[in-house]
Amino acid sequence: MRVLLLGGGGREHALAWKISRSKRLTKLFVAPGNAGTSEVATNVNLRPTDFEGVSHLVEREAIDMLVVGPEEPLVEGIRDYLEASGKHSSLTIVGPGRAGAALEGSKEFAKHFMTRHGIPTAAYLPVTRENLAEGIAFLQRQRPPLVLKADGLAAGKGVLIVDDPAEAARELGLMLGGKFGKAGERVVIEEFLRGIELSVFVLTDGRDYKILGAAKDYKRVGEGDTGLNTGGMGAISPVPFADAAFNRKVEERIVIPTIEGLRADGIPYKGFIFLGLMNVGGDPFVIEYNVRMGDPETEVVIPRLNVDLLSLFEAMEKGTLREHDCTLDDGYRAAVMLTAGGYPVSYEKGHKISGLKETRECLVFHAGTTFRNGAVLTNGGRVIAVSSRGNTLEEALQRSYDGAGKIHFKGVYYRHDIGCDLK
Ligand code: AMP
Ligand code: GLY
Repeated sequence: MRVLLLGGGGREHALAWKISRSKRLTKLFVAPGNAGTSEVATNVNLRPTDFEGVSHLVEREAIDMLVVGPEEPLVEGIRDYLEASGKHSSLTIVGPGRAGAALEGSKEFAKHFMTRHGIPTAAYLPVTRENLAEGIAFLQRQRPPLVLKADGLAAGKGVLIVDDPAEAARELGLMLGGKFGKAGERVVIEEFLRGIELSVFVLTDGRDYKILGAAKDYKRVGEGDTGLNTGGMGAISPVPFADAAFNRKVEERIVIPTIEGLRADGIPYKGFIFLGLMNVGGDPFVIEYNVRMGDPETEVVIPRLNVDLLSLFEAMEKGTLREHDCTLDDGYRAAVMLTAGGYPVSYEKGHKISGLKETRECLVFHAGTTFRNGAVLTNGGRVIAVSSRGNTLEEALQRSYDGAGKIHFKGVYYRHDIGCDLK
C-alpha cells in the first residue's frame, strides 16, 4: 500500500514511524514532514492545505491511502475536495469531511451537537454582535472564572479564562470586534468546569469504533502548570486516575452518543476523534472535540498500540473495525517536549541539534526540525518529543528525562515536572 501522510510535527513523525512498521506498507510519503520523518519516509515539499497539490501527488504517486495529521485541511474540506474531483474513487482517507470536522472547526456547532445528543458538557451561550447584551448578562450570572471561546480555529489561542466579569465583558467586545479575526466573529461563553483534564482518542468508521487510549497533556509552558498555553509540553499515557469505571462512563456517555449523534445527523465520519475531557468528581464532561490526533499525545498513544496501523485504517474503510484486534501495551509511556527557548512567544530557529543518537530506550520524535547540509537543525518552537516506555509511570518518565538530557541545542528548554502530579 502506498500512503501519503499530511503534516510535519511530532504527531506526524510518530504516525509515520508506526506506519513504516506496517507489513501492508510499500511506500510512505510525508508532506511536508521534518528531519525525523525523512528517516522513515520520503518528504514532499507541499502544504497540507494545498488541495490541488495533494490531489496531483495522489495521482502521480498512485497513493492508496491519505492520512491527514492536522486539523486545518480537514476543517477546510480536503475530503470533500478530493471526493468531488472524481479522480480518487479508490483512495482511503483517514479524516472526516467538512461536516464532521465542524466538531473542531466550530465551537458553537460542537456545543449544539452535544446538547442535541445529551452529551455532558459545560453550560453555554453563543454570542455575536447582535446579542452582546445577552452575553454580558450571562457573564454576570456566572460564577468566575469565566470562559470565552472564539468559535473558529484560532491556533490554540482562542480560549480565554478570566476571573473578573468586567474584564470578561471587555474581552468579549474585543473578540467580537475582530481580535481573533473571523474565528472570533462568534463567541461561545461557557460555564467553568472544575476538575482534571485528560484526553481520549478514538478511531471510527461512523458506526463502529476503537478506543486507542487516554492521555494527559501538559499545556502550560512553565513548571507547576504556569505561564502561557502551548501546543503541549509533554504527555503521559495511560492516565492513572482514569480507572475502568471512569472509562466506561466515557464510552457510554460520550463515545457512543457522539458516533450515534453523527449518524443521526447524517454526517459520515471516518477518522480520529480526540475527546478533550474534564473529570469533574468522577464524571466526564467534554471540553472540546478535535477531529485529529493530539500533539504530543500521539507520541505516547500510538506507540502503545499493538496493531498494524494500516490494517486498522483499512478496517475503518471497510467497516470491519469491530472485528479488528487492537490491544494496548499495559505499560506506561511518557513524552517530554524539548522546545526552543522563548517558545511560545518568540524563539530562534536554525540551531544545530546534537545527541539525537545517544538516547537509550527512547523514541525520539521530531517536531520542528529540518535537515540541512548533513545536520539536523531546529525549525520550530516545539523541536523534539522524547517518548519512553516503562512498567511504571516513574520508569517511563525517568527514561524520557535521561534521553532529554542527552539532546542539546542552543536555548533548549523543557519542563522537568511532566507527570509529577500523577506519581
Ligand atoms: P480548548 O481550546 O477548548 O481545549 O480550551 C483550552 C483550554 O481551556 C482547555 O484545555 C482547558 O484547560 C481550558 N478550558 C476550556 N473550556 C473550559 C471549561 N469550560 N472549564 C474549564 N476549563 C476550560
Ligand atoms: N496537545 C493538544 C492538541 O493537540 O490539541
